[in-house]
Amino acid sequence: MTKGWGYRYMRKPQDQQLIGESPAFLEILEHVSRVAPLNRPVLVIGERGTGKELIAARIHFLSGRWDYPFIKMNCAALVESLLETELFGHEAGAFTGAAKRRFGRFELANQGSLFLDELSSTSSGVQEKILRVIEYGEFERVGGSETIRTNVRIIGATNEDLPALAEQGKFRADLLDRLAFDVITVPPVRERPDDIMKLAAHFAVKMTGELGMDTFNGFTGQARDTLLNYTWPGNVRELKNVVERAVYRCQNRDQPVSEIVFDPFESPWRPGTKPAVEKPVSPALPDQPYDLKQSMQDEEIRRIKNALEQCRFNQKKTAEFLGMTYHQLRGYLRKYDLTESEAQ
Ligand SMILES: Nc1ncnc2c1ncn2[C@@H]1O[C@H](COP(=O)(O)OP(=O)(O)O)[C@@H](O)[C@H]1O
Ligand SMILES: [Mg+2]
Repeated sequence: MTKGWGYRYMRKPQDQQLIGESPAFLEILEHVSRVAPLNRPVLVIGERGTGKELIAARIHFLSGRWDYPFIKMNCAALVESLLETELFGHEAGAFTGAAKRRFGRFELANQGSLFLDELSSTSSGVQEKILRVIEYGEFERVGGSETIRTNVRIIGATNEDLPALAEQGKFRADLLDRLAFDVITVPPVRERPDDIMKLAAHFAVKMTGELGMDTFNGFTGQARDTLLNYTWPGNVRELKNVVERAVYRCQNRDQPVSEIVFDPFESPWRPGTKPAVEKPVSPALPDQPYDLKQSMQDEEIRRIKNALEQCRFNQKKTAEFLGMTYHQLRGYLRKYDLTESEAQ
């Protein structure tokens, strides 16, 4: 097998720019530089969208293996048997349809690094085979008896609590011990607010270029506040999408971006949301002059409370019921100080 095999799997270096200067993020970059040259497995832990894959790529390219393949595999993408053949390859005739021998990713990554994303979703059998590669550098292809040797550095990633899973018997403790030689935990975006506008500007400039526009005119103060006040449950991936959408939707190309849309599905006609059976009865107006804003707020509170009750205080369901995202609902609960409902 030639060493050039896995090159098409690698990111181009210009795609790998890691943006961020907040203390928590700089600390991670330092950690990455420290661990990269070591010839040991690494675990990258973090919420979805925090940049685990980019961090893994950085570990590879800062290691002595940089000139060899960086191969990736999302372990959650395939059922167990397919994952096994993807990772370890198969011999001709191993199963129906296996006409030719096929190399697995462990073989393709020889001398390089193998990024195993969503590692927690692997079966115990696959975990056992991975452990054997780490310990002895060997495995057999599916349907084969020849022992293959490979020299691969594993970089695993997950957004799950692996020690807890190991304790519950859902992840092999022996594999976890070997993988956890060093663990890098990437902080979520909400823990590095200083990076939000840097990331936003970076993605906005790229999107501006992609749309063939000359310059990016920045964000309005309000758009900026909106970005800064959001909790970013989907982290950098979500931020990237939101910013790209905002730039793309911006009507006036000479003006700063003003409108931020978090949920592109938001629409009164969204299918699947609760059909609006209530007739728009217009309640009789009070005789006295009254505060419109206050009465609207009272009405919102009343409806949110009702919905919470109907959904037995399950906030996800309540949000769905009200046709809003979970985070929008959280926003309302905070705004109206209704968070005590969680305790019920
Ligand atoms: N620090 C960062 N700077 C620039 N882009 C980033 C950064 N972190 C994440 N991204 C981008 O966000 C998206 C999600 O990153 P990814 O590494 O796939 O996250 P994860 O694997 O943790 O879910 C990708 O498009 C990636 O390029
Ligand atoms: Mg990922």
